[in-house]
Amino acid sequence: MDSQNDEFYTFRGYTLLSKVEKILTASMEDYLEMIYRLSREKGYTRINDLATTLNVQPPSASKMVQKLTDLNFLQYEKYGIIKLTESGENLGRYLLERHNTLQDFLRIIGVTEGLLEETEKIEHNVSEHTMQRIMELVGFIKENPSWQIEFKQYCKQRWGDNLGVNNG
Ligand code: FE2
Repeated sequence: MDSQNDEFYTFRGYTLLSKVEKILTASMEDYLEMIYRLSREKGYTRINDLATTLNVQPPSASKMVQKLTDLNFLQYEKYGIIKLTESGENLGRYLLERHNTLQDFLRIIGVTEGLLEETEKIEHNVSEHTMQRIMELVGFIKENPSWQIEFKQYCKQRWGDNLGVNNG
């Protein structure tokens, strides 16, 4: 496992986000997260792919990409090719990790409906400090699966709730 690396990246993203927090809108965060997701395989993505995945028109995607390029998170090249700069990559990695961790957290506590929507609502509003606590808790629970089993049993006994039964 490269958990030490993950911690490093988290910390980098964390520090980066605190510096740019006031200039990044929720929508900018969504773009950066998606560009990071899409670039993982080839090292770049394209305006059209980005627009399709985010369900927006290419001109809107171009506009946002230009803003993120001005902020030095992206290199926007010819033929609609988008590459992340080093700080863009660090921040994108953190944003994706934040998303995945929140989704794991909601899954752990038994949220099954509208998981993606719930995650999206929380991720742009949660403070860095709270996020850090959630990351640690989720990490702890994953490393201690008995904790999760006991929680499920508790919910079933106390509330008659079949928590996470259809959840994998
Ligand atoms: Fe997200």
